[in-house]
Amino acid sequence: MRRRALKKEVRSIGKVKFASLKSVLALLDGLLSTQRRAHLIWKRFRGHLCVMDKRTFLKITGAAGAGLVLTPWMGCEPKDAQSGSTAMTTFGPESFKLPELGFSLDALAPSIDALTMEIHHGKHHAGYVRKLNAALDGLTLANDGSLESLLQGVSAEDASLRNNGGGHYNHTLYWEVLRPGGPDAPEGALAELILRDLGGVESFADAFAKAGATQFGSGWAWLMVNGEGKLEVSSTPNQDNPLMTQCVAQTGTPILGMDVWEHAYYLNYQNRRKDYIQAFLRLVNWSAVSERLERAISIVR
Ligand SMILES: [Fe+2]
Repeated sequence: MRRRALKKEVRSIGKVKFASLKSVLALLDGLLSTQRRAHLIWKRFRGHLCVMDKRTFLKITGAAGAGLVLTPWMGCEPKDAQSGSTAMTTFGPESFKLPELGFSLDALAPSIDALTMEIHHGKHHAGYVRKLNAALDGLTLANDGSLESLLQGVSAEDASLRNNGGGHYNHTLYWEVLRPGGPDAPEGALAELILRDLGGVESFADAFAKAGATQFGSGWAWLMVNGEGKLEVSSTPNQDNPLMTQCVAQTGTPILGMDVWEHAYYLNYQNRRKDYIQAFLRLVNWSAVSERLERAISIVR
């Protein structure tokens, strides 16, 4: 019971302002060993608060006690690699907004019907944005304020940010790569990398379709640029994505994402997920994927 209560307290830290952290930590005093507390705090805040590796953090906290070091640590802000400046972001009730679709609801019909698009964008995606804003409202984090950096730092235990931040990021990408237009197949550098890393467009399509079809329950299939600058296909459950280094096994920068939640296809396809996947592959805007590839490669460099 004591351990469960403690974990609950640590999880709740992410929902209060930093000004309150000291008092929350005071509540933790005496409940468990300093080392154990340091592990829990590290687990909750790694990626958000400060540029410090785990070994250093645990060494310091083991010697001095997490409560003692966290106060100065809270003032330790991540530095921009080039300018050396720091970034702190205070989130408000509308920090993130539902993006416009950029095309009409019936633009993808009959493959994806207008009602599915209306519900998917106007209800499901809007819901993720609303809940994400509610979770972050009033928080000040050592973060540049971008959704990408939030997701890169999200811990597996932070269900609210993981699900709603992931939901917002994933759907924004989905609408972008489904935008009508562009060539029918990958071209240029994208086609070359697909050939080099995945054996060609056909092999890629098979692997991508398989990733989507075999993802148990709700989730996503991805084409990403991994840390070595190579293309890779993966799938993730729920609203996880390859940016979430603390939550998923295959990490990288997504350049194509396919939603395989039933809400993405059920009105048209019912249980025929494979038919939806084939329709999706015919709808992909390869120009948008190429643009994302260019940005992703520049990050790796
Ligand atoms: Fe969705």
